[in-house]
Amino acid sequence: MIFGVTLMTIIISVVTTIGVNFQSQQIMLNNAYQITEGLAKQAVFSILSGSEQNAQEAMDQVQGFQSVVSARLSLDNHNDFLIMGDYPADTEKSTLAIKTTQIIKETNDYWLIKTPVKALAQSSPSEEDEFELDSDLIGEQNIGYAEVIYSKEKLREAQRQIAVLVAIVGILSVSILSIVLRFGLLRLFKPLGMIANIMKQSQNTGEHLLAREIGAKEIHDIASAYNNMMTVLKQQEYDLVTHRDQLEIEVSIRTRELVEARDAALIASQHKSEFMANMSHELRTPIQSIIGYGELVVEELELEGNFDLIDDMDKISKNSQRLLNMINSLLDLAKIEAGKLDIKLSEIFIDELAVSLLDTIEPLAKKNNNSFKINQGCSLPKITTDQEKIEQVLLNLLSNACKFTENGEIYLTISNDNSHIFFEIRDTGIGLSEKQQHYIFDEFRQVDSSHSRKFSGTGLGLAISQRFVELMKGKITVTSELNQGATFTVSIPCNQ
Ligand SMILES: Nc1ncnc2c1ncn2[C@@H]1O[C@H](COP(=O)(O)OP(=O)(O)O)[C@@H](O)[C@H]1O
Ligand SMILES: [Mg+2]
Repeated sequence: MIFGVTLMTIIISVVTTIGVNFQSQQIMLNNAYQITEGLAKQAVFSILSGSEQNAQEAMDQVQGFQSVVSARLSLDNHNDFLIMGDYPADTEKSTLAIKTTQIIKETNDYWLIKTPVKALAQSSPSEEDEFELDSDLIGEQNIGYAEVIYSKEKLREAQRQIAVLVAIVGILSVSILSIVLRFGLLRLFKPLGMIANIMKQSQNTGEHLLAREIGAKEIHDIASAYNNMMTVLKQQEYDLVTHRDQLEIEVSIRTRELVEARDAALIASQHKSEFMANMSHELRTPIQSIIGYGELVVEELELEGNFDLIDDMDKISKNSQRLLNMINSLLDLAKIEAGKLDIKLSEIFIDELAVSLLDTIEPLAKKNNNSFKINQGCSLPKITTDQEKIEQVLLNLLSNACKFTENGEIYLTISNDNSHIFFEIRDTGIGLSEKQQHYIFDEFRQVDSSHSRKFSGTGLGLAISQRFVELMKGKITVTSELNQGATFTVSIPCNQ
């Protein structure tokens, strides 16, 4: 900035100097013109009368001007009339016929200014003169010339002084401006620097430091705005910390409550499982004896030929069998939940498994007028896994397929890769929506669980099947679309 101000001052000084010099040169030149023309006027009579005495007076007056070096009066034919002072050696006497005042010669040291000496013409205007436009010829006549050599020394002197003055003023201005700027900027930047420092410190330490509100109004305003912001931030941080602390306390209380609730639920669940296991066991014994005695009664009734009672006894046996199945399912579930279910490994021959499934499922399929087919694409003769459980899983899935399909087809496809065997149970029944597929593996969940539902069941088959498959380190998946049938796939490792 100071450099800019200095440059500007130098430019202004130079321009001012040039302007003032030009003006003073014009004034001096005008002065020289006036002196020369005055000499010419005063010399008219002297030249007309040829009296040097008169001319000498005019010359003396001219010499009174300090800058006049020499002067010369010449006649119309350029011959000297009177000379005063020494003509410079390099200047020849002018023989130039001129009609107005002119600079004849200009050097670094002087101007040679020449003007015509004119007298009023006395003769009456002749005919040719009447139409002349030139004023000189109407009433005036050139009778000689006046020359003045005017020194530029005073001009130089004046110019030098002006330059010195301008330079002094310039230097003074630059100095004063620099001092003012320095103090002004310091006053401006010092508080700004302090605010910047405080900001940096706040950033580094994370504290909410306040700035001093000093300096110019705008800086004062900046500091005050920053301080307000810091105060608000501090308050907000305090609120946040308080809120967080409260939340932490609440979370720890809730966590403790949850842990207690979970422990209570776990104990309750364990009690429930134990109770269910005991109860199922206790229920199974009387049901099994009902079924056993029922069979005996049927045999006796057959011997007696009482066929009406045999029908009723059949119903008793079937319902007892259903009850036993349900109790078995509950027992399985209870055992699984109590973690008491073990895997019993044995060799299973795939062909034998397929034949036994076909025998069991075919009559079930026929009930709803469905066809049942097994596609045996499995290249393995046997696998090692829990026979009872794999059979129960497949029976569950196939009996579901028979239950939820009418006048359709049911397929069991058995295949394998290097490590797993796959059982794919596909039907053309009522199918399942995407949403339904998500919960059908949960215990006691059925798509239609209303009292007026069409399909009987407990909603335990798929839940138990999934647990069994997981126990055998396998997976059970479903793909289906509503009214487009369903496909359940069980994959289990060939060897446990
Ligand atoms: N093949 C299938 N087609 C359509 N829905 C099925 C099929 N298999 C199972 N489901 C649905 O899944 C539910 C649960 O099946 P499951 O656990 O075997 O119980 P349950 O057979 O006792 O109802 C069934 O109630 C039924 O809504
Ligand atoms: Mg079922």
